[in-house]
Amino acid sequence: MPSTFIAKGAEAYEASMGRWSRKLADPFLAFAGVPAHGRVLDAGCGTGSLTLALATHPELTAIEALDFEENFVAALRARTDDPRISARQGDVCALPYDDKSFDAAYSLLVLHFVSDADKAITEMRRVLKPGATAAAAVWSYDGMPSWRLFWDTIRAIEPEAEGSGIPSGPRPMTAEGELRALFASAGFADVTEKRLTIMMDYAGFDDFYLPKVYGQGRFSAFFEALPEARRERLREALRAAYLDGRSEDGQRGFESVAFAVRCVA
Ligand SMILES: C[S@@+](CC[C@H](N)C(=O)[O-])C[C@H]1O[C@@H](n2cnc3c(N)ncnc32)[C@H](O)[C@@H]1O
Repeated sequence: MPSTFIAKGAEAYEASMGRWSRKLADPFLAFAGVPAHGRVLDAGCGTGSLTLALATHPELTAIEALDFEENFVAALRARTDDPRISARQGDVCALPYDDKSFDAAYSLLVLHFVSDADKAITEMRRVLKPGATAAAAVWSYDGMPSWRLFWDTIRAIEPEAEGSGIPSGPRPMTAEGELRALFASAGFADVTEKRLTIMMDYAGFDDFYLPKVYGQGRFSAFFEALPEARRERLREALRAAYLDGRSEDGQRGFESVAFAVRCVA
């Protein structure tokens, strides 16, 4: 099992996470840098948030995108007709590319889901030309307040949900310095880490709640199997947490942090 990521369709992914990774893609590339020409890799492309941000760089000649989930790859193909983009199903731990064949390799919000992240990082190094850049980012566990609001409320109301898509604590690599240490121990040079911040803006409670409840992973299966009264109790608790004392439902924005690393092969 090379991944702990449980996908539930490209549309559900877009609503729950793709909209945020699309926002993160630009600051991530501004930090990572994009080569002046050549061929780049998006390892764990999902539905293509980063791939499509890379495609706004006309100087790139080829953009390879790879993901474990066939339906995410299909969704990316449906979103673009850019002839430079080639999307395929595959495993970041066994990249189907030649040694030293890329001018940059990126991985956005992927490595904390990969069972053997060391292997994935070693693979990124193998396919990069000497001197080329690798860059990756993962969400900070403590820096995702809207998700913590969701997870922590559910833990308090439905403790059985823990382990059913509700994390029982931080995932590996989601604390400061962890991602940097992995890239350094894989032999990359000049490893630099930076906090990237985006706003996760929700139009109202439903926009916060529905994509999370019916989004990715095991939680939606747990939720759908609950008796209706327990689902309603959970919904009311989440609504109270989201409203946070406000008398009216409405827009809320949560500043959210990712740790990004850039380094040289
Ligand atoms: C949170 S999503 C991020 C997707 C995309 N990079 C983005 O920013 O929207 C994590 C992605 O990692 C992919 N993934 C997890 N393990 C993988 C593996 N071993 N090989 C390839 N893709 C993997 C999942 O299928 C999923 O698309």
